[in-house]
Amino acid sequence: MESQEIRKRFLAFFEKRGHAIIPSASLVAPDESEKTNKTLFISAGMQPLIPYLLGKDHPKGKRLANVQKSVRTQDIEEVGDKTHDTFFEMLGNWSLGDYFKEDAIKWSYELLTDKEEGFGLDPNRLYITVFAGDENAPRDNEAAEIWKKYIPENRIYFLPADKNWWSAGDNGPSGPDTEMYYDITPEGLGDLTHEEFLKADNEQKIVEIWNDVFMEYEKKDGKVVGKLPSRNVDTGAGLERLAMVLQKKDSIFDTDLFISIMSKIDELKKSSDIRSERIVADHIRTSVFIIADHVIPANTDKGYVLRRIIRRAVRYADKLGVEMHAIGEVIDLVTNKYRGVYDFGDEEYIREVILEEEHKFRKTLEKGLKILHRKIEAQIGRPGQTYKVHHVSLVHGPDDIQMWDFPPSEVTGKWLFDFYQTFGFPFEMTLEELKSHNKHYFFPQDYKRLQSEFNQEIEKHRELSRAGAEQKFKGGLAGHSDVEVKYHTTTHLLHQALRDVLGPEVQQEGSNITPERLRFDFAFPRKMTDEEKLRVEDIVNKKIKEAIPVQNVTMDKNEAIKSGALHFFDQKYPDQVSVYSIGTYSKELCGGPHVSNTSELGIFKIQKEEAVSVGVRRIKAVLQ
Ligand code: ALA
Repeated sequence: MESQEIRKRFLAFFEKRGHAIIPSASLVAPDESEKTNKTLFISAGMQPLIPYLLGKDHPKGKRLANVQKSVRTQDIEEVGDKTHDTFFEMLGNWSLGDYFKEDAIKWSYELLTDKEEGFGLDPNRLYITVFAGDENAPRDNEAAEIWKKYIPENRIYFLPADKNWWSAGDNGPSGPDTEMYYDITPEGLGDLTHEEFLKADNEQKIVEIWNDVFMEYEKKDGKVVGKLPSRNVDTGAGLERLAMVLQKKDSIFDTDLFISIMSKIDELKKSSDIRSERIVADHIRTSVFIIADHVIPANTDKGYVLRRIIRRAVRYADKLGVEMHAIGEVIDLVTNKYRGVYDFGDEEYIREVILEEEHKFRKTLEKGLKILHRKIEAQIGRPGQTYKVHHVSLVHGPDDIQMWDFPPSEVTGKWLFDFYQTFGFPFEMTLEELKSHNKHYFFPQDYKRLQSEFNQEIEKHRELSRAGAEQKFKGGLAGHSDVEVKYHTTTHLLHQALRDVLGPEVQQEGSNITPERLRFDFAFPRKMTDEEKLRVEDIVNKKIKEAIPVQNVTMDKNEAIKSGALHFFDQKYPDQVSVYSIGTYSKELCGGPHVSNTSELGIFKIQKEEAVSVGVRRIKAVLQ
């Protein structure tokens, strides 16, 4: 069964049972999730629905279903095996205080096994897990009893909270879950004891295909604090995994969702390595989806995730001898596969962003690798430095004992950050280089330590560059000569005029003023047309002619932002801020100084409009 048919059957099944079908939300997490759960991307179908799971009325009612685009990067190191990917589609159905365990389980079972309406899977290959109970909630005997109507008791396993309790993060709705697993071995595994079941899971002989969460609890700061106003159901089935099972394939990369992409990489590669091929396929697919949802590579947050994914794709494409410019063809295959399902906007732009990021990375890649390898060799070469450690796989747990000749304590987050800072090597790439050269593994706690040290360095760097930007901002706007002051006010007019002509998504990225000219950088995805430049000039000149008074007030920061005053989004402001208004036309948080009336400015002329980097444009302009 092709992926499109799987989506269709899933939605039709739930629509017939009274569910409203809602569209996929953007991959970019709402601000709220970013604040409460540090979530940068939507990583489950329930995430855009959190307010409704917490009790708010949903305009489409109490029964919902959809297919949601999702990104998860926690397991990025596992991509390349049979089932892990960083982008996936989640099929989900929800009850907002309506039906509960009985119907949720019945419908999951029916949809999986029914031949007419559903997927026609073999019930003898299904295994079920339910929550074993802990101090927060009792053992889920209720779910197990319901399952017994469909599945023999000896294929139902009780597992603890680390397996069968689900929440989207430290805050929000959560609850015990029941998970459905499917046997993908050709011969069939038959009945399994508890231990055999866990082993089969570890060996990817069975795969989890669906999870029903019974969301009736609320979590705050990582702790379950009580019950929600209503008992909800939140389910999620990964489309890629379902496709793998239904198409009887050995991995998600052999399903119709990936096959054309994988064959293209196969055709382009000069040497073979299945893991690398899968990583390139996965990472290019994920990058395309993230860029289509308006994220560009950057040094922090979502942009940093994207940067890491693209750079990791470049690294693995190199290993295969796949030229990145040929990756354009891979990108086309991704957008073709999803045409009619998702909208990608300007596909040329997506290609440009990926290739430009590759170009930036290339500039430092070779040099960085040379230095890194030298460093590694210097360490390995040291006499008498052999360390005995457990080999611990990040996912599968302790394995055996290995000799290790690179002390883990020598690698620090600062060390990894320096490589990132100087050569743009993403965190895990440097670690992967270390691992492949040294054939050693990191303890999970080392990995966590390094990641948190690395993040602290990033945070420190962010504070510094913020302070730098503030300085520049002040430097830019605090020039004292008369002509510089005029340029300050003109910059505000220009900013607003750009928003009028190009749209409110225009964001100031930087400003610099000298007595000769103003320079203004702003986020915008393409070159401005001549006509747009003329319109911007006309607006600014019109506002100058209108002789508008410029006013300054000090006000509460939140009030100012609420009133729509333009500001830098990621900058920290004091509680009381200075706001400059030019009549009702422009309002910005700004330290000044400014002219007192626009009539003092002269004639405004744009001299140049150019790219600073992908997604950022620069205007140089003068007053005549
Ligand atoms: N929210 C649940 C999951 O992502 C269904 O597994």
